[in-house]
Amino acid sequence: MVHGIHAGGFRKTPLQIVGFQGTLYDFSTVRFPAELSNCNKCHVNGSYALPISAKALGSTVDTRSTQATLTALRTVDVDPSNDVKITPTAAACSGCHDGAEVRTHMIRTGGASFGTSTGAGVVEKCASCHGPGKSEDVRKAHELGGSR
Ligand code: HEC
Ligand code: HEC
Ligand code: HEC
Repeated sequence: MVHGIHAGGFRKTPLQIVGFQGTLYDFSTVRFPAELSNCNKCHVNGSYALPISAKALGSTVDTRSTQATLTALRTVDVDPSNDVKITPTAAACSGCHDGAEVRTHMIRTGGASFGTSTGAGVVEKCASCHGPGKSEDVRKAHELGGSR
């Protein structure tokens, strides 16, 4: 969510969050006042590198509450066990990289899920290519110390 809020100038689709009593928040006009690809603007000690903790939870994108209109809730579902989640690594990357093609990459090549409730049986393989020292090391892709 924090990535998505700051990536208004990079995301292909607006980040919209339905909040208290159905209030719709649209973050698409927010611009990060620094180089978005420089992870060190927010992270320290390499905390953005992969792999992330095996105990990390997925990110909920749908609580299964239902809406009467775009801004008014009909039913509120407070049961976390049926939430629709994005697996943790894909959630972190797709906050900014939200395009359809890269989503397909995360699912087909990376083993991620964008629609799991338990995460059971889902194993993300991102670190085998995007981890430290690997060919697509995130630290390299984001060119730290470079011109971006
Ligand atoms: C606007 C601030 C901000 C920027 C810029 C940012 N992050 Fe994050 N990132 C966060 C926050 C906040 C969290 C959540 C930390 C937590 O849950 O403890 C997070 C979490 C993560 C996680 C999950 C870490 C974990 O162990 O669970 C990854 C991976 C990650 N970020 C990667 C990146 C990468 C790669 C970049 C640069 C392209 C980046 N972030 C840029 C704020 C930012
Ligand atoms: C805070 C936003 C943000 C997050 C989070 C983020 N990226 Fe990026 N990423 C960027 C930006 C901005 C660029 C530069 C794209 C450009 O210059 O067109 C980039 C570039 C890349 C590139 C180089 C390819 C390209 O299009 O230039 C790769 C590979 C990449 N990111 C992988 C990842 C991976 C893997 C993660 C998750 C661990 C991640 N990114 C998380 C913003 C982010
Ligand atoms: C088999 C190796 C491999 C695996 C596994 C893998 N990736 Fe990638 N990924 C790549 C390559 C290669 C690129 C293209 C890099 C470029 O364009 O510079 C890429 C590009 C990306 C990008 C940037 C795409 C763009 O241009 O906007 C993101 C984000 C990303 N991967 C996320 C993930 C995530 C999340 C996972 C796990 C769920 C994952 N990848 C698993 C090899 C891999």
